[in-house]
Amino acid sequence: MKSISLLSPAKLNLFLKVVNKRPDGYHNLVTLFERINLCDKITLTLTRKPGIQVSCDQADVPVGPKNLGFKAARLLMEKFQVRNGVRIHIKKMIPVAAGLGGGSSNAATVLLGLNKLWSLSLSRQELVGLAREIGSDVPFFLYNYRWAIGTQRGDVIEKVTLRTILWHVLVVPRVKVYSREVFTRLRVAQKMQLTKKIADVNMLTRALRKSDLSYVSELLSNDLESTVTQLHPNILHLKDKIRSLSIFGACLSGSGPAIFGLTGSQRHAEDIKLYLAKIYKQVFVVRTL
Ligand code: C5P
Repeated sequence: MKSISLLSPAKLNLFLKVVNKRPDGYHNLVTLFERINLCDKITLTLTRKPGIQVSCDQADVPVGPKNLGFKAARLLMEKFQVRNGVRIHIKKMIPVAAGLGGGSSNAATVLLGLNKLWSLSLSRQELVGLAREIGSDVPFFLYNYRWAIGTQRGDVIEKVTLRTILWHVLVVPRVKVYSREVFTRLRVAQKMQLTKKIADVNMLTRALRKSDLSYVSELLSNDLESTVTQLHPNILHLKDKIRSLSIFGACLSGSGPAIFGLTGSQRHAEDIKLYLAKIYKQVFVVRTL
């Protein structure tokens, strides 16, 4: 039986600005993605029996049609009339619905893996087209990019060439945050200028290039943060706590609830983790991948 195992990494958003609401109900964004070394492992096994079977070592992950990996496989199967089936096993390390893109990354990994296993020879652009149907964050994970700027729905990806490796302490509080609810509650200020947002994200990438972590900290921002912290005020306390411990800044990733702190070194991140792990269950030390 043909089988392949692939790592499926998470992301952080160091910058997420909402430009405006679109006629299709989505929002145009400018975001900076950082790929990090917190990874799920996806094993795809071809089966003679038709259909898609998903399994996961964690009970809170849906294994039916709601699973984004399942959606990715079904999309390919239907579009390319694939007759045999696939078993998808997910070894979960990335916290679910945390703002870390775990499900989106799994979907991209399934698209990449099945493109190979089913010998579909789809180009990246074709895969990106399918990825957009699954979710706004899926295209980023199709590229082998450490750093990238996402525009429009966050699904138009432009590589940022940076050698910089950052270390973070990452905390995922135990609250459920639904991105749809966050975006629905969001009040988008009038006259949000795309050019200003692009200028701001470019300032951040320049600060990253110089490894000017103090300035990077000042430029970390996420427009979803105030809406998320209104819904869950404890997230603001967590952010303040991380900021007080990490010297450099702290920020919400995506629509949360994950909060990451920027640290000067792995050692520093590990020290903060030791402290925070007494209070929070899900604390990680992660770096740019
Ligand atoms: O694309 P995805 O399925 O991840 O989006 C989840 C929800 O988040 C959407 O239904 C939409 O309400 C909101 N969203 C948005 N603008 C984006 C991305 C997501 O409004 N750029």
